[in-house]
Amino acid sequence: MAFITKKKISGKEYYYLQKSIREGNKVKSKMVAYLGKDLKEAEKKAEQIKNQLDKPKEIKPASKQKSKPEHKEITIEELAMFCKRKGFVYPSGEIYGGLAGFWDFGHLGVELNNNIKNQWWNYHVRQRNDIVGIDGSIITNPKIWEASGHVSSFMEIAVTCKKCKYKTKVDKHELKDAKCDKCGSDYENKGEFNPMFTTDIGPIKEESVESYLRPETAQLIFSNFKYIQENARLQLPFGIAQIGKAFRNELSPREFLFRAREFEQMEIEYFIPPKTPCPYMEEIKGILILIYDEKMQLADKDPKLLDLYDAWKKKIIKTDWHAYWIAKEYEWFTSLGANPINFRTRQHTSDERSHYSSDTWDLEYNFPMGWRELQGFANRSDFDLKQHQEHSKKDLTIDYEGKKILPHVVCEPSLGVGRTFLVFLLDSYFHDPIRNNIVLKLNPKLSPIKAAIFPIIKKPEYEQLAKEIVNDLNKEFNVVYDKSGSIGRRYSRNDEIGTPFCITIDDKSPKQKDVTIRDRDTTTQIRVKIKDLKSTIQKLINQEIKFKDAGKAVKTRVK
Ligand code: GAP
Repeated sequence: MAFITKKKISGKEYYYLQKSIREGNKVKSKMVAYLGKDLKEAEKKAEQIKNQLDKPKEIKPASKQKSKPEHKEITIEELAMFCKRKGFVYPSGEIYGGLAGFWDFGHLGVELNNNIKNQWWNYHVRQRNDIVGIDGSIITNPKIWEASGHVSSFMEIAVTCKKCKYKTKVDKHELKDAKCDKCGSDYENKGEFNPMFTTDIGPIKEESVESYLRPETAQLIFSNFKYIQENARLQLPFGIAQIGKAFRNELSPREFLFRAREFEQMEIEYFIPPKTPCPYMEEIKGILILIYDEKMQLADKDPKLLDLYDAWKKKIIKTDWHAYWIAKEYEWFTSLGANPINFRTRQHTSDERSHYSSDTWDLEYNFPMGWRELQGFANRSDFDLKQHQEHSKKDLTIDYEGKKILPHVVCEPSLGVGRTFLVFLLDSYFHDPIRNNIVLKLNPKLSPIKAAIFPIIKKPEYEQLAKEIVNDLNKEFNVVYDKSGSIGRRYSRNDEIGTPFCITIDDKSPKQKDVTIRDRDTTTQIRVKIKDLKSTIQKLINQEIKFKDAGKAVKTRVK
């Protein structure tokens, strides 16, 4: 049996999911997941998790590290098919056979992608006064990539299966023991390759300069660092954020958006004076996540569900900034509806870290293909600024307490938009056995379409009123008009693409000047006056009011 418990830490309330487990004659209670600081949200997440806990075959405790497919209702290939069928994502250039590692976002995918990026920007840039944003160019002076070490050290090892000829890449530390993902045979080492795409700048071949499509957005932050700090008058500690495209000529792009050749990143370089403690540690007390440090991995132990604050105090996570940023990112995901049980944080072993990093943690997600990196948190120290200072011969130091210093980036939260897109789709994808169709329970803030408006009666008077409502709501949110098919069919079409609210213009609407709103997740309905519709939808999207309190309850036959 699973139940919610509340703890008070430093005067604040935190909610957790506990589970009773029988061991012989004794019943023990075990913490299964962190549910957040808000009871309403905690109840929702608990329901989501309980659904999984009730399916013993599909869910193992998330502390079991094995990299096997586990809890998902859907495989990654099925998700790709669903996305294509519904208009979220298409293989790029598919009418000519497609191109591996490249994807086009459709009319719903572009909305979901933009909503993810806007939510990320609001949380990391707008709602903080210590972070500003930039938008750097994709192609830049190639000297940047020489200085950053990407030309000489951004290397991967290409391997081919000796038996089935499957091509992939492996990390240096994996080379000795790696077996083919497809057939389990040994790999043949095909040597190192650099995944940066090259391009010629200038139309005349002999006079052109070779440059690169950026493999990460981060370097544009480092190379503009001095300008940004001065112009935005930033005082240490501060961060610079960026969302943008990155390109990597992956040897074997696969698993849908998980490993693409063209993808987007959302990155923050957070600069601090060397050895400055994180002043925000109180904020992360009580936030529990599965932690899997290098020692646990080497000893073949399971990850542990720990309070991130305690993990830092016990030196499992060595720097406070790492614990802080992992907590903030985990909170961002779960506040938008991601299921906390599908997250853990894993430390890179010393032989898998990137050339610029002295300690890296990943936020991992339990994808249908197993636990995989969702977001990286590298300690880049002063590596990048030092390199750019040396190579450019420009002074990149800034004033701090009367001294000139090069700040450090102790923790760089770096997240792929595509992987984030997968997380929100996977955690909201449900097959409802009663409705007998897919219900995409996306957080309304992320839903591509916020409301669908249906005239129930096929007469000009009703259709006209519906169109007027669409035109009014469209000024604020993405809403659609839909008059084709039965009302049940229209509901299920919208459930499948995650539309949280369906509005009907029925026989009473013209006279009463009101409409019905149906809630996607519960199928319950309320009546709301047309004049209050916009503000009601806004409050519902922002989860400022409960659905049942937003209008007068309606009895219905069609769910
Ligand atoms: N600036 C640091 C950096 O780029 P990374 O671990 O190489 O670090 C950061 O990449 C994030 O970018 C990853 O955690 C992942 O979410 C995303 N990412 C990296 N390569 C990707 C690929 N080929 N396809 C999709 N997303 C990718």
